[in-house]
Amino acid sequence: MATPLTTAYRPWIDESDCGLDEFRAAVAQDTDLADYPHAIDVRDNVLVYPATAPSDRRALQAELIRALTDGPGVVVFEDAFSTAVVDRASSAFYAIIEAQRAAGSAAGDHFGEPGANDRIWNAAQKLALHAPDVFAHYYANDTIAVISEAWLGPRYQVTSQVNVVNPGSKQQVPHRDYHLGFVAPDDLAAYPAHLHRMSPMLTLQGAVAHCDMPVESGPTMLLPYSQRFLGGYIAFNRPEFVAFFDEHHVQAPLRSGDALFFNPALYHGAGTNESTDINRMANLLQISSPFGRAMEALDRTAMVRAIYPALLAMKAAGRPERELHNVVVATAEGYPFPTNLDIDQPIGSLAPASQVDVVLAALADGATPQQLDVAMRDKDDRRVP
Ligand SMILES: [Fe+2]
Repeated sequence: MATPLTTAYRPWIDESDCGLDEFRAAVAQDTDLADYPHAIDVRDNVLVYPATAPSDRRALQAELIRALTDGPGVVVFEDAFSTAVVDRASSAFYAIIEAQRAAGSAAGDHFGEPGANDRIWNAAQKLALHAPDVFAHYYANDTIAVISEAWLGPRYQVTSQVNVVNPGSKQQVPHRDYHLGFVAPDDLAAYPAHLHRMSPMLTLQGAVAHCDMPVESGPTMLLPYSQRFLGGYIAFNRPEFVAFFDEHHVQAPLRSGDALFFNPALYHGAGTNESTDINRMANLLQISSPFGRAMEALDRTAMVRAIYPALLAMKAAGRPERELHNVVVATAEGYPFPTNLDIDQPIGSLAPASQVDVVLAALADGATPQQLDVAMRDKDDRRVP
């Protein structure tokens, strides 16, 4: 009989996987810059990378996969966004926040005192519809694409939430993120151990700094290497783990335009804003594998319709094809399923075209917005149950 692949693991997680001593051993690691040749610095155990486009994309991605899996679990890209691109997006986000306030629909927050923070849920869709040109230039960003492809593969689903943490706002309880980070504690042990290992592979967490974030402003608290702890989803709420986090976490100061990415299993939480004058704005990126389900529902057809003229203008202005591709992948639905196989049968291939395929083909052909509209409507109609 072949050796079972599960030999090294028990099928379920139990108390023996949730010990603080094992956790301490898992996180007691020093990051050695020499192990990560593309990085330029290690700060507080966190790897720092430059924003310059890599000539050896694949090698950088291999290093990022290692950093997020077995390494510190968190990386910073300095100057990932230009000041102009970030500032235009910040202005649009503040306009959206003002509109939400004026409409009496200011968004609640799952941490912080009511009214202490400002939040834009589904900021990706709201930005695409409010300021399509700003959106397109923002998501042309190649740093997002390099690390998203590394963690999730060539197709992924970008969602974002803007968070403005105002002076005086208190820190968040340390936690892990989606998927299993949002399952009720009593239900977690019902998921087999292999799903605890898989959950972090379905999402990449990110944060783009929209202002300078010195430590007193409360940038994200992080516990490097904590993503390596198998029992972590079950254990993170326990008082001894919260106390350990309080004592050992690090906070990487960021500058406007820097981008932080981390494994969603990394223990983390927003920090206390002890400044008197910094409204700490971050665009929190939650980027999903197409094989998973994102938390937020987006109208990607409406988003594509809004930004396509901006894409055509960028193409006419000679922007690199790679950047146009990045915008399309960040906007359109990249996965062809679920669909209605009675009317959307794959012909000559394993899968029907995805919305990304439809938009890329339209862009390559120089299709008009009206022509793209017809193609997308046809595509959407075929998916209806
Ligand atoms: Fe989080």
